[in-house]
Amino acid sequence: MALLPILEYPDARLKRIASDVTEFTPAIKKLVDDMAHTMYEAPGIGLAATQVNVHKRVIVIDVSETKSDLKVLINPQIIMADGEIVGEEGCLSVPGYYDTVKRASHVVVKAHDASGNPFQLEATDLLAVCIQHEMDHLVGTVFVEHLSQLKQIRVKTRMKKRQREAERA
Ligand code: NI
Repeated sequence: MALLPILEYPDARLKRIASDVTEFTPAIKKLVDDMAHTMYEAPGIGLAATQVNVHKRVIVIDVSETKSDLKVLINPQIIMADGEIVGEEGCLSVPGYYDTVKRASHVVVKAHDASGNPFQLEATDLLAVCIQHEMDHLVGTVFVEHLSQLKQIRVKTRMKKRQREAERA
């Protein structure tokens, strides 16, 4: 398994819209394995293919404390959403920054697994939030883009400073 480099906000490639997976090939299985490995190593609780510069509708999530409940969602679609939850979010593409975002507290999503089998998943609370956060990535939205313009400018400044420092190191 390979560790994939993660794009950092405000990289323009994070704005790309992912396209549906149409063939469930061994390459898709490898992508899922590499993404899961990258997410666990980071460590994070979710990763969208967009974040590793692959513009396909593929998400991996594991919100369990024991890191033993990997969920793979390919071509995910939310078919029901209700309730409201305001929670603190972070993102592997915006390291070190956390802020609160309003999401649906309960969603039903339909998706395919890495072999192409369709399934439905009902999710609440953290898992529901994580699904919405990762699905946002697939349409080019990073969670900070739900915040005020002022906060977005601050985050961009902070990230650019961080990236300059990393380049010098
Ligand atoms: Ni994210």
